[in-house]
Amino acid sequence: MSHSASRRRTVAVVLAGGTGQRIGLEIPKQLLKIAGKPILEHTLHIFEHAPDIDEVIVLMTPAYTGEAEKIVARAGLKKVSRVLAGGSTRSETTNVAIAAIAADLGADEDCNLLFHDAVRPLLSQRVVKECVEALERYQAVDVAIPSSDTVIVTRTHGDDGEFITEVPDRSRLRRGQTPQGFWLSTIRRAYELAGGDPAFQATDDCSVVVRYLPDVPVHVVMGDEYNMKVTQPVDVFIADKLFQLASSLAPEQAGDEFYREQLTGKTMLVFGGSYGIGADIARIAEGYGARVFALGRSTTGTHVQNPDHVDEAFAQAYAETGRVDFVVNTAGILRVGRLAETDNDAIREALEVNYLAPVNIARSAFKYLSETNGQLLLFTSSSYTRGRADYSLYSSTKAAMVNLTQALADEWAGDRVRVNCINPERTATPMRTKAFGQEPEGSLLSSESVARSSLDVLLSEMTGHIIDVRQQDPTLPAQRSGFDAALASVLSRSSED
Ligand code: CTP
Repeated sequence: MSHSASRRRTVAVVLAGGTGQRIGLEIPKQLLKIAGKPILEHTLHIFEHAPDIDEVIVLMTPAYTGEAEKIVARAGLKKVSRVLAGGSTRSETTNVAIAAIAADLGADEDCNLLFHDAVRPLLSQRVVKECVEALERYQAVDVAIPSSDTVIVTRTHGDDGEFITEVPDRSRLRRGQTPQGFWLSTIRRAYELAGGDPAFQATDDCSVVVRYLPDVPVHVVMGDEYNMKVTQPVDVFIADKLFQLASSLAPEQAGDEFYREQLTGKTMLVFGGSYGIGADIARIAEGYGARVFALGRSTTGTHVQNPDHVDEAFAQAYAETGRVDFVVNTAGILRVGRLAETDNDAIREALEVNYLAPVNIARSAFKYLSETNGQLLLFTSSSYTRGRADYSLYSSTKAAMVNLTQALADEWAGDRVRVNCINPERTATPMRTKAFGQEPEGSLLSSESVARSSLDVLLSEMTGHIIDVRQQDPTLPAQRSGFDAALASVLSRSSED
């Protein structure tokens, strides 16, 4: 926990009581699956992993509280203390939360509340942290971004339609997002006063403080463009695309003891385990007590594109150890060249190794992994976000890994089998040297550090994630986000990994 012992308790209130009429689906939009998981689940994970959040409560559309409880249980979310039925308006839902939390506290006790729209599943940890920090000084905190559009105010004139009445100065306009944070005592008082106003209506909580407690300053934390609210049908499409880019960062590396505890007595199969990242994963896992079967063309004669070879590898590992907990596939081929000049054999080989093989491995792995609630770990490349000249086979097959990961995570969630995908930045491996020759030292990630991050993912509860592994740049204040990396890859097509 990063927060100081003196910091007061912070409860995240996830507002999921709406029905999502504007999207117009049969289920509330917060239950819609994006990137393999319901939107609500993505949002809950953000708070689960936020060091400054002590407790999470969910306010759910009344007919769907059971669904929300199932999501919480299945995802193993430990900070969620309860799921309550929301009200018929967003403000009523907020009121239910305030009453529930106030009932837990003594008369003199206070705490911080962060109200967040369940349908903003791309909230960053930076914003959560800055909101909690701001609540040390201010009683009320909003999150907003500048408006890139000019905003106009209109009035409707009968059948003639709308006419502009005002064009506010855009430089002062901000678009409100969530979370919105408050001291419980403050937001409670604001809502008590609002309760006595027959004309009360609001679409957010800061406006209730601004209106009924005009002396309380509401501090504004800079939000971000990605923290979008899924509201209109087009937003589902945009959120889906953003999730593909918003690759998760690997969980923090744990100590030796943790690795030993988690890996001793476990069985791991590493396809592509003869050299490079695969060999490093195999060696490190073995060092911590796992029984590892490192499989490769040159070492064990395992051709990953041959389903019989893959089946045999599983059968043998299972016969020897009675279990299969982790399956990793790092086998891949990178050949640079124009498609029109690529011969049939090279095309077949690229498709077989980069695409067919992971599919074979996944199919064979399922029955073993469902016995142990294990994990399949695939590998992609940052080129998956955008195809480029000369890399057509490599980057398109790597894009397929992302889609395959999401599909299988969804398909296997009920069997508690996890599937993730590592997206390493340019890494020093024999595959890369073969394609590009020797490159300047320090310009590449070491395959060992990618292997370590891969182990962290294998030992995590994550599923359906694309995890970026990057070189830590000490000159950057925070690790670059997946979005920035994707943007960089669109802007500069000169480098490839
Ligand atoms: N919300 C809520 N209780 C309500 C209405 C809304 O908790 N009675 C939540 C929604 O679930 C959502 C957030 O407030 O996470 C923002 O709501 P919004 O998307 O504007 O409203 P919905 O009712 O979900 O959608 P629509 O207005 O399209 O029907």
